[in-house]
Amino acid sequence: MDNKQMMERAEILVGAVDDLPTIPIVATKVLQLLDNPDVSVEEIADLMLTDQVMTARVMKLLNSPVYKPTQEITSLKRALVYLGLRHVRELALTTSVINAFDGTSGALELNAFWEHSFGVGMVSKIIATKIGYQDLEKAYISGIIHDLGEVFLSNFLREPFMEVLDYIKTRPVKLVDAEAELLGTTHCEIGLCMARKWNFPDSYCDVIANHHNPGEATVDPILCAIVNLSDLFCTVRELNYGGREWISFDLSDEEAWKILKKEAPSFANMDVERFCYELDDAIPDVKELVSSIFTPL
Ligand SMILES: [Fe+2]
Ligand SMILES: [Fe+2]
Repeated sequence: MDNKQMMERAEILVGAVDDLPTIPIVATKVLQLLDNPDVSVEEIADLMLTDQVMTARVMKLLNSPVYKPTQEITSLKRALVYLGLRHVRELALTTSVINAFDGTSGALELNAFWEHSFGVGMVSKIIATKIGYQDLEKAYISGIIHDLGEVFLSNFLREPFMEVLDYIKTRPVKLVDAEAELLGTTHCEIGLCMARKWNFPDSYCDVIANHHNPGEATVDPILCAIVNLSDLFCTVRELNYGGREWISFDLSDEEAWKILKKEAPSFANMDVERFCYELDDAIPDVKELVSSIFTPL
């Protein structure tokens, strides 16, 4: 099955779903407003306040361990001033994506899924900092949304996807390869179809499509390499969808490692063992964040 055929199959599968979740109009408008350099905090806050669920989720995220406010933040305007508008983009997108996929009827356990996703977001931000990547929030968001296609498979292709999950339990096969073999497409192509429907910016589409093949990225190979590497780290640590996927890797063989080393030669000297311990220390924060997001509003 080549890439073109897998993409065609994904388009058919996504096109066949009538009730595909939507991203709230307010989120899209916030993203558009933030492209205007003269926009004020007041304008953004007023717009966000028209969506109560988004406001509530944003406040929750803001008071979570990831942002570590020195005192509890209770007003959205104060929060936006405290954070700066760059972070608003991140909050508007992530809170909307989480809302779009609320529910418990899928094959994947949503909590484990979001722990993995926020874990990859956090590790992507750490790697981005280490290599001097210019947009840390973009790295963070990319990590959070990289596996969106999995939620589609879990919710809308429940039975065949359960078979994929069973299949990898007993075989040393990566999830993405098992999907290609059994479903004729993967969460990468499916995710790309969804991201296009939702008008995600090109660099996010690139990450969703190529986070397992950063060498094939066309828009931002460095960003794809960052997410790929942090995905590998999270999968071998405790942020791994509850241990579903078989994986082992040797950094020096990884395309992503080669791409990032070229970008920031000092990255090659990183003490990998120490880095893994740093990640282990951050795992409780990620778990707390996800559980705070998913406790009822
Ligand atoms: Fe993936
Ligand atoms: Fe992943």
